Formats: sequence, C-alpha cells, structure tokens
Amino acid sequence: MQRNTSSTSLFGEDTQQQSGENSTSRESISDRLFGWRNRLLANPEFHRKARRNPFMRFMARRRARALFDLCSGFVYSQILSTCVQLDVFKLLQNGPLDSGAIARAIGLDRDAADTLLRSATSIKLIENRGRDCYGLGIHGAALLANPGVGKMIEHHTFLYRDLADPVALLKREQDETMLSMFWDYAGARQQQSNDSTGTEPYTDLMSASQAMVAEQIIDTYPLHSHQRLLDVGGGDGTFLRTVAGAAPDLSLMLFDLPPVAEQAKLRFAESDILNEVACHGGSVFDNELPKGADVISLVRIVHDHNDDAALAILKACRAALPAGGTLLLAEPMAREKVGDPATDAYFGFYLHAMGRGRPRTARELQDLIAEAGFSRCHSLKTHLPLLTSLLVAKA
Ligand SMILES: C[S@@+](CC[C@H](N)C(=O)[O-])C[C@H]1O[C@@H](n2cnc3c(N)ncnc32)[C@H](O)[C@@H]1O
Repeated sequence: MQRNTSSTSLFGEDTQQQSGENSTSRESISDRLFGWRNRLLANPEFHRKARRNPFMRFMARRRARALFDLCSGFVYSQILSTCVQLDVFKLLQNGPLDSGAIARAIGLDRDAADTLLRSATSIKLIENRGRDCYGLGIHGAALLANPGVGKMIEHHTFLYRDLADPVALLKREQDETMLSMFWDYAGARQQQSNDSTGTEPYTDLMSASQAMVAEQIIDTYPLHSHQRLLDVGGGDGTFLRTVAGAAPDLSLMLFDLPPVAEQAKLRFAESDILNEVACHGGSVFDNELPKGADVISLVRIVHDHNDDAALAILKACRAALPAGGTLLLAEPMAREKVGDPATDAYFGFYLHAMGRGRPRTARELQDLIAEAGFSRCHSLKTHLPLLTSLLVAKA
C-alpha cells in the first residue's frame, strides 16, 4: 500500500510525496536544505559575517528589519490606534499644523505629543513638513478616505484585549472573549428576539466597512444581468443600497436575524433608493430562506462559521434558488500554498478569538459549495483580494 504525505518545498510549494525510495530521498534532501538554512540563520557568527560582507549586507539588513518589525508590530498598531482615538488625521486634513497646536487640540502635553508625532511620522501616518510642522502622511491620508478602516481600528481594542494572553486564547482558557460578546450571534446569547441591543454594534461596524467590499463585488460581477437578488446575512442593507445604485432594475431582498432585518427596514425607509427591498427576519439555521431570487449573495458570512454550519448555510441557499440560479460568495480567502498574513494570521486569530469560523481557501470553499449541491463553481478576481475574493456557482 502506498502512503501519501504532503510537505513544503524550499520554495513554499506543496508537494505530494509517496512513500518509497525516491520520495524518501526527495523529502530528506529538502529537509536537509531547510536544516542547513536554519542552522546558518541561527548562528550569530554568520550574521556578523553577513553584516560585514558588502554583497550580503543589504540582505542582512532587510532580514533584520523584517524581524524587528515583527517584534514591534503591536507597538505600531497602538500608535495607529492612538492617532485614530485622538482624531489626529481629521485634525490635519485641512493642512499641516505646528506641534504646539496639535498638542493642545489632542489634549497631550508637549513631551507626550512629540513622542506620538515622531512615532507616527516614522510609520508614515503623518509627515514632518519642516521645523515643527506636521501634515498627513500617505497612510493617514488613505485612512481619511476609508472611514470604515478607522472604525475597525477602534474595534481592535477588543481583539487586543483577547490577545493579551495569546496562549490562553489558543487553549480557549477564557470563558468568554471580548469578540464573542461583541459578535452576539457567535457567543452564548444568540439572538432570536427583536431586541437589537446585541446586534446593533456589530451591524454598524459592518455597515461602515461595507462600501469598499460592495464596490469590489459590483466591479467584478454583472449583478444587473439578474432579476432578483437575495442577500443572506445582509446586515443593515448597506451592500444592497450600493447594489441598488449600480443596478436600479434589480429587485432586492434581504435576510438576517430578526433585530438586524428590522434595523435594515428602518435604514431602507430613510434612504431614497428606488428599488423596493423586502427584509425578512429569521435564522438561516431554523427558517427557510425566502424564494423568488435568481441570485443569492453571501457577503462575509461563511468565514464566520465552522464547516457544519457553513455547509448548512450553503444548502439553505441551494434550496431557495431555482435550477440555474446563481450563488455569489464574497469574503477574504486564504491562499492555496504560501501563507498570507492578512487571512492566515489576522483573520485566523480574529476568528479564533470570536470563537468560531476560519478563513478558507477558494478550493476549500468550492468543495463545500459542491457538497451543498451547486455546480460550475469558479472564482472571479477582484481588484482587492485583501478585502474580498469572489466565487460564483450555479444551482
Ligand atoms: C460578518 S456580518 C456580515 C454582514 C454583511 N453581509 C456585510 O458584509 O457587511 C454577518 C451577518 O450574518 C448575520 N447572521 C448571523 N447569524 C445568522 C443567522 N443564524 N441567520 C441569519 N443571519 C445571521 C449577522 O446578523 C450579520 O449581519
């Protein structure tokens, strides 16, 4: 009998290996190469020599910087968080100010303000514009264009509290994490009532960060070629309001937990979109999804759920679609081979802290989609896979 083992090559590629003489020697060669590289990197003498060697110095500096950035990442994030909390970017949006004026406006003494301004300058949030003057830096300016990112940065205080003891988090030693309490449906107190106190904070956060996601989906997939769209887990309807602008003839339906669907109803009533939107409240696990749509979207939904629940959601969508209907699944996806910090590190730990779900590769999602009864599943490239990738399948 042959045994299949999978390993990672020197270049980060997954290689399928079979037991036998050839594969054993292939495996041991790559293991030997990794071993040699790691012994070299763990040797202080090698680093000293590399720094002195003009050909290796550039590489040595780059590696040292990358390692330093890994060690300091938390501090950088906290500097960013401070700037957002103290509204430094908004303060500078009309032009540079001197440090005294900034210190007064953000309520810090000159010493503390200088520490913040110099550190924020070093990570390109702001820029020194000569003498004592500071203006927006490239990252600070970009943040002003994306208010949703600012909201996520504020929200990260919950994540950082859960991460204060990352080992305890991985061992699930905390009874309740901050994130499982924030994401009401992930915690113990799952909502079925019309009380929106548990759902409103996360719904508002999702709404704030939805605009760019919606733009990616609309730019990538021709939603106007359909008649009726049902957005499952549609939050307060921000995605559908953006779709309405791009596809005014598309009729729209939304399904979410009862208090969230109520919130969506109110938001639609306040907005001036022409499309009538039917908002349905219920749980995708306990209630049938409304029928009548020829396309169903799942935007940032499936990664929140473990495999069994994810499959149940996909099956519910399949049951609600007519033959030939379309499923659109949009969320950030893990890369197949090389690890990706945005999905594997950030979303991996975020969802672990939330208590359920995980980032999946497109292939893992395609397998679940096929198991739910869909066919012809393919991926479409968005402009910003960091925010969302897209899978399309047929019922
Ligand atoms: C991460 S949010 C995504 C919201 C929106 N699609 C977006 O991208 O902004 C997940 C959504 O799923 C909804 N949800 C959670 N559990 C649900 C359930 N059992 N049935 C229906 N919707 C649910 C939540 O209320 C929330 O609106």
